Amino acid sequence: MKTRHKFTAYLLIVILPLIILSIIYWTHLERSIQKERQEQAEWAGTVYQEYIDQVISETKEILEMLSLSSSVLYMDDKKTELLMKWIKDTDSRYAGVYWLNQDGVSISGTNKYFHHYSLIEQDDIELAVKTQKAVVIGTKDPYKPDFDYISIFAPILDHDKKAQGFLLAHIRLDDMEKTLKKLSPGHAFILETSDKTRILDINTEEFTGHSTWVDVPLTEVDWTLSVKMPDRINTNNMNFFLILVFFTFLFTHMIYSVMEELIVRRNTKNQKLLNDRQKIDFVGTLAASTAHEIKNPLTGIKGLVQLLVEKHPEEQDQFYYSVIMKEIERINSIVSEFLILGKPMAQTLSLYDIRSIIAELRPIIESEARHFNIEVEWNIVKEPIMVHCTKDQLKQVILNIAKNGFEAMEVGEKLRIRIHHENEWAKIIIIDNGYGLNEKDIGKVFDPFYTSKKEGTGLGLFVCKRIIESFNGTIEFSSKPLNGTTVTISLPLIKDQPLKGLIFKNED
Ligand SMILES: Nc1ncnc2c1ncn2[C@@H]1O[C@H](COP(=O)(O)OP(=O)(O)OP(=O)(O)O)[C@@H](O)[C@H]1O
Ligand SMILES: [Mg+2]
Repeated sequence: MKTRHKFTAYLLIVILPLIILSIIYWTHLERSIQKERQEQAEWAGTVYQEYIDQVISETKEILEMLSLSSSVLYMDDKKTELLMKWIKDTDSRYAGVYWLNQDGVSISGTNKYFHHYSLIEQDDIELAVKTQKAVVIGTKDPYKPDFDYISIFAPILDHDKKAQGFLLAHIRLDDMEKTLKKLSPGHAFILETSDKTRILDINTEEFTGHSTWVDVPLTEVDWTLSVKMPDRINTNNMNFFLILVFFTFLFTHMIYSVMEELIVRRNTKNQKLLNDRQKIDFVGTLAASTAHEIKNPLTGIKGLVQLLVEKHPEEQDQFYYSVIMKEIERINSIVSEFLILGKPMAQTLSLYDIRSIIAELRPIIESEARHFNIEVEWNIVKEPIMVHCTKDQLKQVILNIAKNGFEAMEVGEKLRIRIHHENEWAKIIIIDNGYGLNEKDIGKVFDPFYTSKKEGTGLGLFVCKRIIESFNGTIEFSSKPLNGTTVTISLPLIKDQPLKGLIFKNED
């Protein structure tokens, strides 16, 4: 193959499929990674949600318990203050715990800084009074605009279930953030109240990639958590992709190598066929010119031997002459085949009705059959079968094949010759039921000089094939050991051509 063709073939068989398949693999991998990320984000979201809900519900419980204690047990300020201090000191989640009056103003608490400040708004106070339950506040703290904690407060109820004051706890968001980061590092995370106030915002700044947010609602309060996984390249996935690409390359490269090998083999075979043909042509020309030179002296020798036959009638001499004559005949038949080999195959063909050729050939074949003690059965269609050929050569082909049949059969057997047309083809089929040939030998019958006969030249079928191919036809040889042989000659059928000056008498 030329280098340019090689490159194009390599591009089409290896590079292009590799690129297309890599894109398909990558897209597929991306999709599955995306799904995996989504699942991880959902899982992380659930873990965060449980943690935050737990912190809120525990705080609510503590505050409600404390407010119940102070109202039921009539705890004094000092004791309540001590308890508040104890809660803040023992639990790092709290920034402070405060006692507020009915207006939400801090009376006492763990951080003196907030004394006399109003720590909750009127709306929230009303809600707590109405529901008599703890309230979670996610609005901005007026004193801490950067919002460092969540406020939860519970009403202190008297016997008539009236709010005497409130207990308030500030949950530290920095502590919550630390815990959440530990739970699942790398996730981006947002906690928003129902009015979209952002309370927590973790890792969203540095976050890159195409992951989508997964929203998880809290159960303790009407807030929403949004989580997403980072776009980290998973080395396992990357390795898997690279291995896939590598094996695809290996596979396509293998296909290319096999195809290249096949093409090289085919080219070598074609080259060999061409060389063989050139060799045969050369040998044919050489043989024909030599044959021509041999034929003349041979005719002379034959004539002289004929004279000697008449001159020496003794039995011994007659035997020697008969052997000489037989050998001369053999040389003559070989030389005749050689002459055909040398004939240019681009000869002018004439239009013939095969039946007219057969009419001329029939007596010769039948006399030959009698010689072998074999019967011939003819089966010829009634209508003309027109082909382009050279009459003498077609005769020689049929005679050669018929002779092979006679030589393969036993005395008393029957050779069948069928002539008909099939679609675009004229068919001459010669069937014998002789000894047949095995698969291996069938492949050799058209080779020059292949013969299994003591006296054979091995040129008969070789010449037949050359002649039939020069008529643009084909010759097929099929055989089964001990079963017989069928030789089929197919010649292009010529339709609608007037037959010029050819008279055929059908003898059937
Ligand atoms: N009808 C057949 N049955 C069995 N074998 C056959 C038949 N025709 C051909 N062969 C085999 O093919 C070989 C080649 O045939 P081909 O006609 O080319 O040469 P040949 O018959 O051996 O010699 P020649 O034709 O010169 O007498 C034969 O020797 C024979 O082995
Ligand atoms: Mg023969």
